[in-house]
Amino acid sequence: MTEHDTDAELGTDGGTETSTDGGAGTEPERETTELDEPSTDEPISIAAPDIGAEAKQRVQSVLESGMLADGPEVRAFESSFAAYCGAERGVATSNGTTALHAALEAVGLEDGDAVITSPFSFVASANAIRLAGGTPVFADIDPETYTIDRAAVERILADRDDIAGLVPVHLYGLAADMDALRSIADDHDLFIVEDACQAHGAAIDGDRVGSLGDAACFSFYPTKNMTTGEGGIITTDRDDVADRAASFVNHGRDVGDGGSYDHVDLGHNYRLTSLAAAIGRAQLERLPEFNRARRANAMYYNEELESLPLETPTEPDGYRHVYHQYTVRTDDRDALAATLEDHGVDTGVYYGTPIHQQPAYETVSTAAATLPNAERASETVLSLPVHPDLSERDRRIVVEAVRDHFHSQ
Ligand SMILES: Cc1ncc(COP(=O)(O)O)c(C=O)c1O
Repeated sequence: MTEHDTDAELGTDGGTETSTDGGAGTEPERETTELDEPSTDEPISIAAPDIGAEAKQRVQSVLESGMLADGPEVRAFESSFAAYCGAERGVATSNGTTALHAALEAVGLEDGDAVITSPFSFVASANAIRLAGGTPVFADIDPETYTIDRAAVERILADRDDIAGLVPVHLYGLAADMDALRSIADDHDLFIVEDACQAHGAAIDGDRVGSLGDAACFSFYPTKNMTTGEGGIITTDRDDVADRAASFVNHGRDVGDGGSYDHVDLGHNYRLTSLAAAIGRAQLERLPEFNRARRANAMYYNEELESLPLETPTEPDGYRHVYHQYTVRTDDRDALAATLEDHGVDTGVYYGTPIHQQPAYETVSTAAATLPNAERASETVLSLPVHPDLSERDRRIVVEAVRDHFHSQ
């Protein structure tokens, strides 16, 4: 399949995959609908990467080619992933953290610059700012969407004049409030690096994340909506950012040097391998299918859990949530997790400690802030299995376990 065919098949214009209708009635027939399939003692896992035959075959071809590290396979993956996001350029990296670090260097973060981000995320969102020489400043989240609250961002900007940029996190597969953040960034001359590590295919009004800031970063860790084992990518419309990032991930090498050893800047080896890119190309072709299955599972839970005393995820109008996690909220979180475990259902708490309260942040002066919405979320959130490999029976078991918990109280 040519790169062009790949992009056409994915519908880079947004196509049907960006529909925000909830999709329950229009989802294609699921392959795993057997309610009577035999039960196993395996717990229903919180994540289940599905690699598939196509990826294995592509990895085999790369192995046979002998070009295992950087090369044409990586270039092809970069351009097809960028096209999927509606961005001009892609720069593949060794993981999402290195993507964030390289993107922050590439947009021009300077030592001592302050950058606003979310306290309610994987620690990498803020670590990358520190690795790039900046200081993370935490804006509290909106308690409904779990993404940074525009009013909190505005309060920080009213107080400080050293903010250079924003790193909004599209948490659990839901885009942050990018319209508001873009207009704030324009008013204050700030860069935006989207942390889209959990949101491959998420969109606002049909525009996919990865194309909504100066640069965006994705992770391809095995639990993500698509995987390359370990891996990451930066997407951007800015040639200057793409060129600087491509150089930074390759020891500051002159990007146009055609293989010579001219190193014009300090950099790292943050490159993706061709083996990982081969998996990524095959996974990208399946991403629409994976996201549809995640959304169908989420719609099922929304309906089945509606009458119970817990809060289900929010999907604001015009947003397309891709449910990297299906996260409910209840004061009874730990007991609910224990009941689900008894029923053979794995759950996850993302994240039980907000970043500003992590031990590694004790020495960061801005982490002394009180951020009540993030702190409350960390005490009440629980993620249920929502991955595409869930069978109808798995979903039913999850719902019955949650019901059992609340009905036996
Ligand atoms: C929100 C967020 N940011 C950054 C990262 C870092 O990605 P990686 O683990 O690939 O370095 C992750 C990965 O878990 C993430 O969830």
